Amino acid sequence: MVNLIFLGPPGAGKGTQSAYIMRDYNVVQISTGDMLRKAVKDGTELGKLAKQFMDEGKLVTDDLIIGIMKDRLAEDDCKNGFILDGFPRTVAQAEALGVMLKDQLQTDITHVISLEVADEAILERLTGRRSCPSCGKVYHVVYNPSKTGDTCEADGTALIQRDDDKEETIKKRLAVYHDTTALVKGTYKDSGKLFVVEGVGTPDEIYTQIKGILG
Ligand code: AP5
Repeated sequence: MVNLIFLGPPGAGKGTQSAYIMRDYNVVQISTGDMLRKAVKDGTELGKLAKQFMDEGKLVTDDLIIGIMKDRLAEDDCKNGFILDGFPRTVAQAEALGVMLKDQLQTDITHVISLEVADEAILERLTGRRSCPSCGKVYHVVYNPSKTGDTCEADGTALIQRDDDKEETIKKRLAVYHDTTALVKGTYKDSGKLFVVEGVGTPDEIYTQIKGILG
């Protein structure tokens, strides 16, 4: 069973690596960022509340995020294992997660992988990121271009650049990561489940290291 938390700065490659893990381990990816972007697109109450935080590169409030995670973890597909991509991002979220897993699923985290990449590389990765608004597949204009140019090679949809992937917003997201989210690593440091992976190299090379950890 794999119940994985992916830690790491914005653009470290958490989403990219999650796609490989889902393919090989029959687990579901739960990305709070994707859930929030969908809520914004659908114009829901949650989306209206979250949009301003996201556009400014700030974290959405803990109560909103914990609320959506509580509902998501109650869904049946979480019972076979999951990847948490983008959650927890604060120590309070990490504490709430421990309680939710115990009470709702009678389970616990099996692995915490901290994918680490220097800020300079992050800027280059995120300004060049493009994604498919239909299937969510992620590309990079240089490192991982779509074979069909500016459309998704899987379904032909025109690729988009995320609103928060502007240089100024990326810098704010990195500052929030260093000030707040990096502290989450400390929550797991004595658990025996924390693994640090240098997120430098090709996605395939990084995945080889991750597979070595997950077994
Ligand atoms: P979220 O969507 O979670 O964004 P993030 O953490 O900033 O992570 P990213 O999706 O940007 O990066 P990634 O690590 O998945 O990298 P990727 O694989 O795409 O959050 C967005 C916002 O939502 C937050 O700012 C916040 O407002 C809110 N939010 C979300 N969760 C929250 C929470 N829990 N609490 C509060 N607020 C929350 O890769 C990036 C690029 O690099 C791609 O182009 C990719 O092709 C390329 N790439 C990947 N690997 C490599 C490699 N090895 N070499 C070269 N290029 C690579």
